[in-house]
Amino acid sequence: MPSFLTFFMLQDSHKRMKTRLSIGLLVIAAIHCVSGAPEEDEITYLPGLGYTLPFRHYSGYLTGSEGKQLHYWFTESSNNPSTDPVMLWLNGGPGCSSLLGLFTELGPYRINKDGKTLSENVYSWNTVANILFLEAPACVGYSYDLNNNCTTDDEETALSNYNALKDFFTNKFPEYRNNELFLSGESYAGIYVPTLTIRVLEGMQDFPLNLQGFAIGNGITSWDYSNNGNIFFGYYHGLYGDTLWGRLVKNCCEGGVASKETCNFLDLTNIACVYASNEAFSIIYGGKLNTYNLYGECVTPSRSFLTRYMADLKGLGMSQYFELNRVERPGITPPCVDYDYVIDYINSPEFQDAAHIPYGLPAWDVCSDYVDYHPNYDSMEAQYKYLVPRVRGLVFSGDIDMACNFLGAEWFIEDLNLEVVEKRRMWFYSENTAGGFVKRFQNLDLLTVLGAGHMVPEDKPEAALKLITSFIQGRDY
Ligand SMILES: *[C@@H]1O[C@H](CO)[C@@H](O)[C@H](O)[C@H]1NC(C)=O
Repeated sequence: MPSFLTFFMLQDSHKRMKTRLSIGLLVIAAIHCVSGAPEEDEITYLPGLGYTLPFRHYSGYLTGSEGKQLHYWFTESSNNPSTDPVMLWLNGGPGCSSLLGLFTELGPYRINKDGKTLSENVYSWNTVANILFLEAPACVGYSYDLNNNCTTDDEETALSNYNALKDFFTNKFPEYRNNELFLSGESYAGIYVPTLTIRVLEGMQDFPLNLQGFAIGNGITSWDYSNNGNIFFGYYHGLYGDTLWGRLVKNCCEGGVASKETCNFLDLTNIACVYASNEAFSIIYGGKLNTYNLYGECVTPSRSFLTRYMADLKGLGMSQYFELNRVERPGITPPCVDYDYVIDYINSPEFQDAAHIPYGLPAWDVCSDYVDYHPNYDSMEAQYKYLVPRVRGLVFSGDIDMACNFLGAEWFIEDLNLEVVEKRRMWFYSENTAGGFVKRFQNLDLLTVLGAGHMVPEDKPEAALKLITSFIQGRDY
């Protein structure tokens, strides 16, 4: 009954919005062919911001594919906006909002735990680049579809995001069109970013952009590498003990030898392996440990969508359990982390006014329940093979994340068999503090961030700024 009601309210408000928007667009088009930066999108105040910002920022809508209105937030660089690069940032999910990246990770201001005020992030990435945050696909956060079609897949999302980028550089901020462009993101953006980068490259003839590279933090590269890597990660971080590890190796690894080459913990044909893996995955994903940061607190286990989901699956066939385990389901709030204060702030009418959010949209949530997402890929191998010769890439991983663990990313990149240009070594930030490890391949840099979880810029802000600055400026890490 409640969802039925919501549906009709939405339909109605979208119809009204459609009329309002199409009238608005004529006016906007007439004004902004010449003047660039869209005045109506400029943010003139933000609730709870008690200090003056040394940059301009904008919030409004970009048109993705037909009917898809994607909410963007653009923070100009506090350094030199006209010459600094433009960097797109996408959070993952699929179905989670990039406002999380803006307000809790790499953005210039962070929402305080009171859910009302903001404080400065001195390690914001907009100290070196103009950052475009995009809530995608449609139906995530404040992005919507005029026909209420929230069904999408990897390729449709890439195309829609590409169209939004073209709208950004054509109608909203044409003055940035020649700036260096980087595409970046986290988690499921490990799929969004490579697929979008390919779109941009393929569209280069018709729509030239100064594309320089892509950067992915704790991204999914391949489900097989990631899940297999996770089992090793768990053992060597003290999660199982020798009895379970012994069963895993005996039953899932060829000749009882534990290695990347010999183990397949996802081997559904071997029931003893399935049982052992199931036990291991239950420890990792069971909702008692913080999957996103092994050493972080588990603040809100009861809100865990994933945990509830897993619990519901007990008693179902093992193979189904595994199929579902492969895809992080769109949920409400991810397990263990507390985002209530973010939800409070972003849903406040004061914020919605300040950010030019239209009336009648569903409540904002960290991850959307509305998106009906159908992945096309379980590995990005073909995409990396296409990208590496054409454009620079950075793959970095907080090394205590179990959602997209560093080992899976490392194995995936190693197995691309690229030419090594710099052997693995430690990298540093702020004098003598180790940031992690770096290995450089031809056109592709592979980094770990020591002691960071899934959300690297949140956990290790100074290290994160150092690594992204080195990458975009083409300097040593
Ligand atoms: C919704 O969008 C998807 C993806 O673009 C498309 O395949 C589907 O046909 C659309 N559904 C409707 C009812 O228009």
